Formats: sequence, structure tokens, C-alpha cells
Amino acid sequence: MRVLSGVQPTGKLHIGNYFGAIRQYVALQEDHEGFYFMADYHALTTVRDGAQLRQQTLDVAADFLALGLDPAKAVIFRQSNIPEVCELSWILSTICPMGLLERCHAYKDKVSQGLPADHGLFAYPVLMAADILIYNSNLVPVGQDQKQHIEVTRDLAERLNHMYGETLTVPEPYILENTAVVPGLDGRKMSKSYDNTIGIFDPDNVVKKKIMGIVTDSTPVEAPKDPANSTIFQLYSLFASPEQRAAMEASFLAGGTGYGEYKKQLLASFLEYFGKQRERRAELAQDLAYVEDVLVEGAKQARVVARETLDRVRAAVGF
Ligand code: ADP
Ligand code: TRP
Repeated sequence: MRVLSGVQPTGKLHIGNYFGAIRQYVALQEDHEGFYFMADYHALTTVRDGAQLRQQTLDVAADFLALGLDPAKAVIFRQSNIPEVCELSWILSTICPMGLLERCHAYKDKVSQGLPADHGLFAYPVLMAADILIYNSNLVPVGQDQKQHIEVTRDLAERLNHMYGETLTVPEPYILENTAVVPGLDGRKMSKSYDNTIGIFDPDNVVKKKIMGIVTDSTPVEAPKDPANSTIFQLYSLFASPEQRAAMEASFLAGGTGYGEYKKQLLASFLEYFGKQRERRAELAQDLAYVEDVLVEGAKQARVVARETLDRVRAAVGF
């Protein structure tokens, strides 16, 4: 079974990215063939500075490695090193109804946030479908926000198969219930575009400032508190052992402890949880040549598969 996923190199990885997606990549690489990439063609819809895009792409690759993706187990690569994907994207766009793309929430959200509605942003899900289909992927681990894009992908694969005969593998999404939507500092979905993230590799003092700034309600210190509606408790649950989680829950319900104290516990659990990865990330920052080597090697492997699929599709459609 082949597992594939990608992350746009549009900024620093945050804990929503980790629990929603990257933790699953790391777990799945043990028993499945993994293909993981930095979606820099996609990032071009928002990052308009070449040097910045180049740097951020390498940074996300280093983040992947620090978080435990292992080039001996998985193929790790840069999307733009496989230009075949753009050709497949074009072919798919010729069978993609406009309505399918007009319904996509991600596009509508981005436009409503003020991003210019250019063709790249609109056609974004078709390129994502090409990413998935060109590697004959079976399973795609992502957060809830990407589910609709995977439905578009399935739809396009089925259409092409219907029109030209069995050519493409139809993939399944892999979305874990309890981490499908990780909340951010303000209680909305954690996202770079809301500026409410905690970066996995932010310096200690920045993480501390962010956690201390988590928005809370005005329940007095002595009163019982509702764990289910607390961002602090939800984030703590991601890091804590079941016993630690139960202890904080009981303390919330009992009252007598202020949110400031819980924030301190959250900070300590974050630093402990990511301690090793943060050390490894600092080492990798000193050795970006190694990170680049990993990407070059990954692209070689990915490209072989991409070429085979593209040749099959080209033959099917009449080239
Ligand atoms: P962002 O919303 O910060 O721009 P991306 O769109 O780059 O994040 O997401 C990369 C991966 O991380 C995707 O699989 C996405 O579903 C997942 N992800 C992002 N934010 C969250 C979140 N708050 N909770 C769960 N998964 C998330
Ligand atoms: N659209 C995804 C995101 O914003 C990134 C992405 C691009 C992706 N191509 C993909 C994810 C293929 C999974 C599979 O998070």
C-alpha cells in the first residue's frame, strides 16, 4: 500500500500540522511505502518571493526529518522536482467540471480572506489530484480541511478511468477523528493564515509567550471550569499521558486553579514532548546540504513512478 501526502512550504510547521498530518506520516512509514513532499508549486499561489520560497521549502524538509521522517523508509522530495505532475494536472483539468472546483471551501475561504482569485488558486485541487494520482497512491493522511480535495481527486480519477479505461488508482483519505482539527490560540482552527499557531520549532520564549496568550473565558479561579471547551485542555490532551490528562480534567471540574497554572503545565508538556525533535532540528539547521541531498535522492525515486503513470495516461488519452 502506498501512502502519500504533502505540506505547502508557506511558513513554519505548527502543532496542527503535526497532529493533523505529520505524526501520521511518521507512523505509517513503518509499515507502508511512504511518499512525502513539500508542495512548492502549490505554495506559489501565495509566496511571491523566490528566495523566500526556496528557503522555506528547505526548512520544511528539515522539519520533516527532525520530526522523524526517515529517508531510509520513505521517499521525501520537493514537488517541483517532478515537473511531470504539471502535465498530468493539465490532462485532468480537461475533464474537470468547473462546478467541482467552484464548490471547494478552501478556494472560497482564501478569496474571502482577501487573496487574489487567480487561476492557480482556483485550479489548486486539480494539481493536488495530480500529486496524488501520479504516484498511484492508496492512502492520503491529512487534516479534515483537506477532505474535500481528496473527494475531488477521487472524482477525477473515476472520470478518467470511465472515459479511457482503468488507468488511475482511486485513493482514500486517512483522517484521525481526535486530531482532525487542532485548535489555535484563539480557539479557531490552528492555521498559518489565522496567525494563531504554536510553531513546533519556535524558540522557548516565543512558545511561552504564545501559550500564556491563549484566549480563555472569565471563569474565576475558584470556580469549576469546562475542559471540553478549553483550548488549553484540548492542546494538553495531545501531549499528555492518559493519567496526566485525567488529572487535569479532574482539576478543571473541581475548580480552585486558575488558567495561568494550566498554561504552565501545557508549556512544560509541549517542551517535553518535542524536546528531542527540537534538538535534532537545531542540528539540521547546521547541515542543510544533507537535507538537500535527501531531496535530490527522493526526487530520483519519485520521478520514476511519476514518469510511468504519466506515460500510461498519455497513451490512454491519445498522445
Ligand atoms: P495551514 O492551515 O496552517 O496553512 P496547511 O494547509 O499547510 O496548514 O496544512 C498542512 C497539513 O496539516 C494538512 O494535511 C492539513 O490538513 C493539516 N492541518 C493544518 N492545520 C491543522 C489543524 N489545525 N488541525 C489538524 N490538521 C491540520
Ligand atoms: N493542499 C494541501 C494542504 O494545503 C497540500 C497538498 C498538496 C497535498 N498536494 C497534496 C496534501 C497531495 C496531500 C496530498 O495542506
